Amino acid sequence: MSALISRVARSQAARARNVDSTAILGALPVPVMLLDTENRFRYVNNAAEQFLGISAASLAQFRLADIVPGDNPIFLLIDQVRASEATIIDHDLNLESPRLNKRGITVQGSPLPEEPGVVLLVMQDASAARALDRQLAFRGAARSVSGMAAILAHEVKNPLSGIRGAAQLLETSVSASDKELAELIRDEADRIRALVDRMDAFGEKPIARTAVNIHRVLEHVRKLAQTGFAAHIKFQELYDPSLPPVWANRDQLIQVVLNLVKNAAEAVTQESIHRPEITLATGFQHGMRIAVPGSASRLDLPLFVAVRDNGPGIPEDIKPHLFEPFVTSKSTGSGLGLALVAKIIGDHGGLIEVDSRPGRTEFRLHLPVVTEKEGDQ
Ligand SMILES: Nc1ncnc2c1ncn2[C@@H]1O[C@H](COP(=O)(O)OP(=O)(O)O)[C@@H](O)[C@H]1O
Ligand SMILES: [Mg+2]
Repeated sequence: MSALISRVARSQAARARNVDSTAILGALPVPVMLLDTENRFRYVNNAAEQFLGISAASLAQFRLADIVPGDNPIFLLIDQVRASEATIIDHDLNLESPRLNKRGITVQGSPLPEEPGVVLLVMQDASAARALDRQLAFRGAARSVSGMAAILAHEVKNPLSGIRGAAQLLETSVSASDKELAELIRDEADRIRALVDRMDAFGEKPIARTAVNIHRVLEHVRKLAQTGFAAHIKFQELYDPSLPPVWANRDQLIQVVLNLVKNAAEAVTQESIHRPEITLATGFQHGMRIAVPGSASRLDLPLFVAVRDNGPGIPEDIKPHLFEPFVTSKSTGSGLGLALVAKIIGDHGGLIEVDSRPGRTEFRLHLPVVTEKEGDQ
């Protein structure tokens, strides 16, 4: 029996020999790296280069400790692999350093039987998968509200204009002291009207898209913020000027970024934050794709926009419900900001990722860019 198995294994190996194994590794969409006995990079595949953000040529000069701090648990895993000569898997590792920011990574370390001390590392970025899961949940949450919002907006607006008109009539005929009350009714009716209009934004409407320069959107919001609610906050811009336009509705994108910047400003406006700072960043991030609902195709989302702050982080109890409507930790908050953000980004076929801890909160939007077909329009 075992002879049979080994014969089968040998014949399969013979078949695989016709294909260059490094070509297979190169095409694998999973980061794979080989460390020698001194933890120098002996080999990295393309996905590993992307993952670490460093080219294979540069990595050849590095040890793992040059990229990840020496006290990272990944070194323990590597030592265990060498000592036990067995495969060991660790979940939820954080690989963080000035040049790397990867959290929730699953790392699998295996020995190479032919080469003692050499360790094969295979990584899985679970956060990307989790982000997809969550995004779909957010869309559902926003959807459930959209139907209700549309009905409410419709049903409330009609009687409201009646109330407002009646109050206006009263204003002209009542005594001075009652006039104040009539004005109050009118003002409050206006306030409800504005609220309802805001909820109406959740309704399902096709969006009108054009090619939008994302940096103009960001600069517009930054100016709005710095002349208003974020006058005391330092802004940092890390833009990649080579980015192509995004395929989006400009006004809605402004609304999205404004909501994120407003939250960031509110987060850093606390006495405990000594140097409040908001960072707006853009760049390419390859490998981000999302399934188009109802079809087998995938939409590429090669561009990201990040809004980062150095505030206290998202409260733990809020995190699982972050994008649901009416979820807020603020005494005067509406809890609608992020629900609207999720709705708009979902409508655009985009994706949101959140990474938050004390001192660093980042909302990252992944957006589609203009394709040749749309550029022709
Ligand atoms: N940058 C951030 N830092 C910390 N917490 C945040 C941040 N952005 C959002 N949150 C949390 O998410 C909640 C929901 O945000 P949002 O939907 O905009 O509603 P609101 O701002 O009205 O509370 C906030 O109340 C806050 O607890
Ligand atoms: Mg908000």
